Amino acid sequence: MSDLEVCPFDAPLGAEIRGVDISKPLTPSAVETIRTAWHDHLVLLFRDQDMSDAQHFAFTAQFGTLDYPPELLLAIAAGEVRVEDEPMAINVISNVIENGKPIGVLGNGEAFWHSDSTFVEIPPAASLLRSLEVPDSGGDTYFMNMYQALETLPDELRQAIKGKSSKHDAAYSSSGKRRPQFTELDPSKSTGPIHPLERTHPDTGRKSLYLGRRLGSYIVGLPLDESEDLLDRIWDHITEGDFIWAQQWRVGDLVWWDNRCAMHRRDAFDPNVRRTMHRTQLAGDRPY
Ligand code: OGA
Ligand code: MN
Repeated sequence: MSDLEVCPFDAPLGAEIRGVDISKPLTPSAVETIRTAWHDHLVLLFRDQDMSDAQHFAFTAQFGTLDYPPELLLAIAAGEVRVEDEPMAINVISNVIENGKPIGVLGNGEAFWHSDSTFVEIPPAASLLRSLEVPDSGGDTYFMNMYQALETLPDELRQAIKGKSSKHDAAYSSSGKRRPQFTELDPSKSTGPIHPLERTHPDTGRKSLYLGRRLGSYIVGLPLDESEDLLDRIWDHITEGDFIWAQQWRVGDLVWWDNRCAMHRRDAFDPNVRRTMHRTQLAGDRPY
């Protein structure tokens, strides 16, 4: 008998998984229960987990192929590094500065709604974020159910995006910072992979809205002003919607989201308080 329990939140997405120590190898039946919960609930929370980075990687690898952090995905896409030469790296999200150098990315500011690394051809299927140090308040992370975002789109908007795709420019990080190597300011002229606005989940078969992020986004084939207008109307609809669950972090939490059918954002927090997370990614799949 296993104590593993799936406890859905009273929210449009998310469930806590209880009764399992994820620092140890899982039984095949636990893997299947957790995988199913991931497909059903989009975001999973595991509390009070004490694990090393090696155990974090090992947990993740039981569900698929590991993927690289964003900056390495970009370097690989640009041909600057070869996958064969590149050891897997943990992605550090932190505002901590040591010896004058940030130990991670994103600082203490807000991170805007986004899916991770959609600026590569095959974005990660999932991100698994584990908290090492957290502020008492601020820095909450919010998740949005993008199946519901699509299902609740007004007919007129649903029609307007039918068969359309958008370009996912890598110029902006989720905190809105520009990556200096991307110099083109016009989203209709910049380079980036094209993904359909409506995508089908390979495991659940359900359709969801797939936006990446607002900054630098462009709907292929439209004049720029029409693309901006349509994107604004879609974003107004979803950010006013009620398909969100919020995670208030405790040390030892691991939150695992489906990057294909959920978006996330993060609140800002006091810059004088340390917040550090380590993240792994599961590789994605195409076509969809
Ligand atoms: C991420 C991210 C949110 C957070 O890890 O992809 O957007 O809460 N971070 O720091
Ligand atoms: Mn992110």
